[in-house]
Amino acid sequence: MQKSDQLTLANQQSTRWFSFADQQTISEAAVNRILQSATSAIASRGRFLLVLAGGSTPKNIYALLRSAQADWQNWHIYYNDDRCLPVDHPDRNSLMAHEVWLRHVPIPASQIHDIPTELGPVEGAKSYAKTLEGISDFDLVLLGLGEDGHTASLFPGKISDDSVDAFPVFDAPKPPPERVTISAARLSRTREVLFLVTGAGKQEPVDNWRNGQAIPATLITPQNGVDVYCQGIILR
Ligand code: 6PG
Repeated sequence: MQKSDQLTLANQQSTRWFSFADQQTISEAAVNRILQSATSAIASRGRFLLVLAGGSTPKNIYALLRSAQADWQNWHIYYNDDRCLPVDHPDRNSLMAHEVWLRHVPIPASQIHDIPTELGPVEGAKSYAKTLEGISDFDLVLLGLGEDGHTASLFPGKISDDSVDAFPVFDAPKPPPERVTISAARLSRTREVLFLVTGAGKQEPVDNWRNGQAIPATLITPQNGVDVYCQGIILR
């Protein structure tokens, strides 16, 4: 078997698929998973390093977390990417998370690490790479999936600069074009990965992924594999 085939097979074997009937059940399952991961991390290491997904899919999940009981003092929040827009722009991933969840729970502000994308892609990436310096493996990375198979701001046909923890994106096909993303290599340094994929618009990238196509989501290769929570998608 060719090395590339072996890699594809390994990738497929370490990807676990879960299908949920509706928005409420996938959101509740994701919240339970996040809270379990937090409890385990805090029990073992005294803190929970969570990386948030951007986009619209996780909004319901973040809103449910607002009323969850958790040891918030030991949560540390990062983002897998953000768009280069003003801090108060409605399309900022960090604004959405703060609005529906983070400003309603007592996670210390010093432990919520928004990506300073208002500085622009280059300066924002430099600053976030500095923030990530010395941070151990993440405990849980949440990720979305784009209709073209992208995840975070890792897009088809673009390389992930895995020599750094975070890098600038200038030509994202999904607006806005300028972003900062954590690299695939750094996102893979985590104990758990949970992809959240909902809606018929994601059927094609899921089919491609399950058929062994090297979509950008397959760049995320943590030792323990990845879990993909799907809703409104046929796992054929
Ligand atoms: C972004 C996200 C991006 C997103 C997917 C899915 O900043 O746009 O990081 O990777 O997760 O595009 O977006 P939806 O959840 O809105 O479909």
